[in-house]
Amino acid sequence: MNREGPSNKKIEGFYMYRFIDYYHNEVVLSFDDHPFSTDPKHVWVVCRYQNKWLLTKHSDRGYEFPGGKVEENEMALEAAIREVKEETGGIVDTIDYIGQYKVRGKEKMIVKNIYYATIKELITQEDYLETYGPILLEEIPHNVQKNRQFSFIMKDGVLLKSLERIKQRFLTN
Ligand code: GTP
Repeated sequence: MNREGPSNKKIEGFYMYRFIDYYHNEVVLSFDDHPFSTDPKHVWVVCRYQNKWLLTKHSDRGYEFPGGKVEENEMALEAAIREVKEETGGIVDTIDYIGQYKVRGKEKMIVKNIYYATIKELITQEDYLETYGPILLEEIPHNVQKNRQFSFIMKDGVLLKSLERIKQRFLTN
């Protein structure tokens, strides 16, 4: 991947980026409307609180934006709001769908929705489940791909391209 990351190609009517992740799995990313599944089972939420990025510290993986699996009888959007609260204590103010990606894992394929959320309040939780709770950062470091504090899910083109989109859509004056 060069500094700008992978390039965008139109495949089956959708614009997609393709790259290989930290574990050498193939990832396909698109900012079009639900290109891989209308009912994805995973979510990932890029969060902003008081002009900072709000992440969580996962107990095994390290710093990452909150997210996880969609439960039975739950919609992806509901899961996104729940995961942000469980892993960071953040109460979602606004939340927008940004895109979707597909990871071809060794055993299974997963599809994950990406959201951008603004947080109105951080409420201390008794238990942050498998995480150590909220982490606030002014900037995501440029060396995130090599930084051992950060989770593998922050180390491929999904983060790079999502932040570009979010900055363009939401953070420019
Ligand atoms: P269980 O069903 O609880 O056992 O889950 P799992 O540990 O198999 O993980 P999960 O279903 O969340 O994901 C399956 C595989 O997809 C993982 O082993 C990861 O390699 C990969 N994966 C999951 N989420 C991401 C992600 O956000 N980015 C990338 N690049 N890979 C991911």
